[in-house]
Amino acid sequence: HHEKMLIVQRVGAKQNVGLIKLNRPKAHNALCTPLMKEMQTAVKEFEEDDKIGAIVITGSEKIFAAGADIKEMVVKDFATIYTGKDHFLDEWKTIAECKKPIIAAVNGFCLGGGCELVMACDIIYAGHHAQFGQPEINIGTVPGAGGSQRLTHAVGKSLAMEMVLTGNRIDAETALRAGLVSKVYPAKEVLAKAIELGEKIGEQSPLIVQMCKEAVNSAYELTLKEGLHFERRLFHATFSTHDRKEGMSAFVEKRKPKRSLD
Ligand code: HXC
Repeated sequence: HHEKMLIVQRVGAKQNVGLIKLNRPKAHNALCTPLMKEMQTAVKEFEEDDKIGAIVITGSEKIFAAGADIKEMVVKDFATIYTGKDHFLDEWKTIAECKKPIIAAVNGFCLGGGCELVMACDIIYAGHHAQFGQPEINIGTVPGAGGSQRLTHAVGKSLAMEMVLTGNRIDAETALRAGLVSKVYPAKEVLAKAIELGEKIGEQSPLIVQMCKEAVNSAYELTLKEGLHFERRLFHATFSTHDRKEGMSAFVEKRKPKRSLD
């Protein structure tokens, strides 16, 4: 039995935000397989829970995560991980595939797999002293969970290339300017702000929230023409929902929309 490496709670005034806090301080929150298995379980439970509107993933006020666990990886060989025999990194897809919005609240180092984990989330808030980097090159490997792909989509080729080729870190302000994160706050406030954001999303129709997330994510996968077509179809689909009818009626009748029924 492993010690628990995550703190999992329901937070917010309505307890409708699922909070996952990395809690492996001795290893700088290195994302070892047991930790990621716990993360997978927690994300799936929140995803299936109708009372939860959004999920927040955070580390401590000092560090988000120093990456995948190098002590776990050092003994691995190509054939084992290439064939997938030890299922290494299988849990990671749970985050990107989650249907509910996931907000990352980042303080301190957010490196390697840590940076890749938050880039698989939907929104990133950073504390003033947050540092993002892909230092894999320093240990003779390359990013393995999106660090060369999602980072390039987020910040463009020049900065992504510089980070991946050198392992150099960027600070929160640079991350903000480059579009990697959407807001920067003092370290003590970033988690509260992320939870507030989760609560605000939690006020919306869960069905329509899921469609919005799917629509934005499709911008990463499809051509503009395909993406616009998909978006239009989702828009049409909202007209089959109670929440669309209620939302528009409430506006026209100058009242607040009633709770979601879809
Ligand atoms: C395992 C780690 C670790 C990691 C830190 N530790 N990072 N253990 N995996 N990624 C452990 C250290 O071994 C040490 O434990 C303790 O945490 C504290 O770390 P220190 O190095 O002593 O702290 P400090 O001097 O403050 O330096 C902080 C740091 C440095 C700059 C973040 O720890 C660092 O460079 N870490 C590695 C960063 C990295 O290369 N990340 C990419 C990993 S590869 P002990 O018990 O030994 O004292 C990756 C690939 C992902 O993420 C691929 C797909 C997921």
